[in-house]
This record gives sequence, C-alpha cells and structure tokens, in this order.
Amino acid sequence: MQIPPFSLEAQISEIGEEIEEALIKVFRSGKYIGGEEVISFEKAFASEIQTSYSVSCNSGTDALILALRSLGIGQGDEVITSSFSFFATAEAITSVGATPVFVDIDSKTYLMDLSLIEKAITPKTKAILPVHLFGHPLDMDQIMAIAELNKLKVIEDCAQAAGSYWRGKPVGSYGDVGCFSFFPTKNLGAAGDGGAVTTNDLNLAQTIRQLAIHGMPKRYFHTNIGYNSRLDSLQAAILNVKLNRLNKWIKQRKEIALNYINKLSEIESIRLPSDNLTNTSVHSWNQFVIRIVDNSFIKNIKANSEYVLDNQSRDLFRTELQRLGINTIIYYPIPIHLQPIYKELGYEEGSLPVTEKVCNQVISLPIFPELNAIQQSYIIDKIKEIFKK
Ligand SMILES: Cc1ncc(COP(=O)(O)O)c(C=O)c1O
Repeated sequence: MQIPPFSLEAQISEIGEEIEEALIKVFRSGKYIGGEEVISFEKAFASEIQTSYSVSCNSGTDALILALRSLGIGQGDEVITSSFSFFATAEAITSVGATPVFVDIDSKTYLMDLSLIEKAITPKTKAILPVHLFGHPLDMDQIMAIAELNKLKVIEDCAQAAGSYWRGKPVGSYGDVGCFSFFPTKNLGAAGDGGAVTTNDLNLAQTIRQLAIHGMPKRYFHTNIGYNSRLDSLQAAILNVKLNRLNKWIKQRKEIALNYINKLSEIESIRLPSDNLTNTSVHSWNQFVIRIVDNSFIKNIKANSEYVLDNQSRDLFRTELQRLGINTIIYYPIPIHLQPIYKELGYEEGSLPVTEKVCNQVISLPIFPELNAIQQSYIIDKIKEIFKK
C-alpha cells in the first residue's frame, strides 16, 4: 500500500463534474481576471469567516504582506510572531521592511506561548502576528486583550486554519485582519496559488484591494506602490465549489484525528497533538503532527544504535514509515529564527528551546478528508508495530 501525506485526487469523484462545469463557464465568459466568480467567492468567504469584507489575492504570503502594508507596518517596526511556522510568516514581515520578533511556543499546542508576548514588546512593536498552526486555534480572547492593552495591531495567520473556530467565532474574524492561503494542501485549497484577507474595517479592505492592484484606486491612477496580486477567476470558480464542502471536510479531518489519538495514545514514545479545546472551539486539523520523544523503537527496525539524537530518531521513524508505503512530511525541520537569512537578527541555537526541540521531533502523519478507514488502520497498525515493546 502507498499512502500519500496529502491527496486531492480522491476529491475528483466528489466534485470533479461540478468543477469542470464551473471552469468551462469561466472560459466561456472570457473574463479571466476578476468578474462574477471572484466577487461571489469574496462574498461567500467573508460570510464563512463572519467578517464584513474579504479581499482575495494571489497567495497566503501576499495576504500577509498586503495586511501588514495596509496597517502601515514597515521600516523600523517590530512584529511579534512564532518561529515555528512556514517561512512565509516571517518573510512577509521582513518584506515590508519590519523585523520579526520571535517568541517561543507552548510544548503542547505548538502555538505561540502567550505568556511570553508582553515580555517581547518594545517601543518599536506595532503588531502581534499569531499563527493558528496546523489548524489549532489560538486563544484569541487573550491575544486581543494583550493587543488592546498595548495598542498593538493583530494580524492572524490563518493559512492553515480555514474552518477553525475560537469560542464559536471563526479565526480570521478576531484580529484587525485575517490572512488565508488557498495553496492546494490547505483546508480550502485551490488548484494553484490563492489567498485572501478578511477584515471588518472598510478602510483596510479598500487599502488592501488597492495595494493588490498596483496601488490603483482608479484605473491608471496610482496612489501607492502596490503589487499584482489577484485571485484568478478560474481559481475562484474552484474555490466557490469547494467552499460549500469546507465544514464537511473539517468534520472528516476531525474524525481521522480522533481515530489517530484514540489508537495511538498508548504509545509512550509518541506525543500526540493536543485538542483540549472547549466545544465551541474547533481545531481544523490541517496537519496531524506527532512528536517522537525517544528512540526505544529502534530495536524493532534493526537500525543501528548510533541513532540517538531527537531528529535522528524522528528521521529513522520516517524512513521506516516510507519503506512501509506511508509517506509523511516534516513541518518544520528548521525553525525560522535559525534559517540562514535570519542570522542577522542575532538568534542562535538555544534562543527558543521549545521551538528547537519540537522541530527536531515532529512528523506529520497523512491527513486529508478522503483518507479511508483501511488506510487509517494500516497507518495505525504499522506505527504500533514499530513501537511494540
Ligand atoms: C502558516 C503559513 N503562513 C503563510 C503561508 C503562505 O501561504 P502561501 O503558500 O499561499 O503563500 C503558509 C502556506 O504555506 C502557511 O502555512
């Protein structure tokens, strides 16, 4: 059996025909940029996220850049965020001329440790950029309270969290802006790149839209240096079809996650992701990330006993899964603060100990709505075999 970490192929039988119809409609309309599909997607997405506005753009990275720019964040400003994220989170901050300031994460949720935010605030701090990593919602009540007290803006990185809720409200509806990615592997994935910014602020929505179209409030009249960052009509047509299924797909993801949690909980060498949320908060399980915390399993795969370090145990486990046809991904092997380009920020090994430890131990098991019962059982049985005492 070969199981991919992620697959869109299985969706074809469910939505293939609807997608084909939607795409041919766009082709026939001759309107490939903007138009009906983009307008209706933005409306529907704003309604899904329960915000007044949603402005679509070319990617989640652009959504972050547009959001930061619209809030006037740039040269000399600091933005507090997490180093345990996809690089784009920090890259967007640097791209607008500001400096990312990383705080360590909580070892159970892998999210920014909220108790560290206030210590990281300086006179230059302009915003907090929380990342709802893997679909796990952050405590937005606490973040908004810290932001209000310290007069900071909040930019939610919801790239991995379409369909996540904090206390009954979708993520992306709490901060000044919410930034979403429609990269194919996301909960709501296009067949290419795409993104959106959500907000309740009309002025921000207008600024974001203008920045996304060459800083152009009126045709061929430019008031800003902006970007060419639009969601293609074809991608919008696909997203319109898929948005109707988002919540159903999140439920399927949750069932898979709970199955993994129930069946793998007895294995001492594995730390399972935490889902200790109230019932009005929803983890959307974009990724199911476990940690390999010791190397006691090595005898079972006849590996050589030199493998002693955290990441070597994890990598060996990963290789063994691959041999068994179970393909996994490491999100993320190197924390952002230790990436070569960020050397100049002055972080070094040991600066963010929890983040660094977690990066050495994490591995993401296959999770996507169509991962069937046979595949799930196969994965669970093989992992149990690897860890049998
Ligand atoms: C947490 C996070 N932020 C930002 C991004 C950037 O999104 P995109 O790939 O659509 O530019 C991603 C996507 O990979 C992400 O996972």
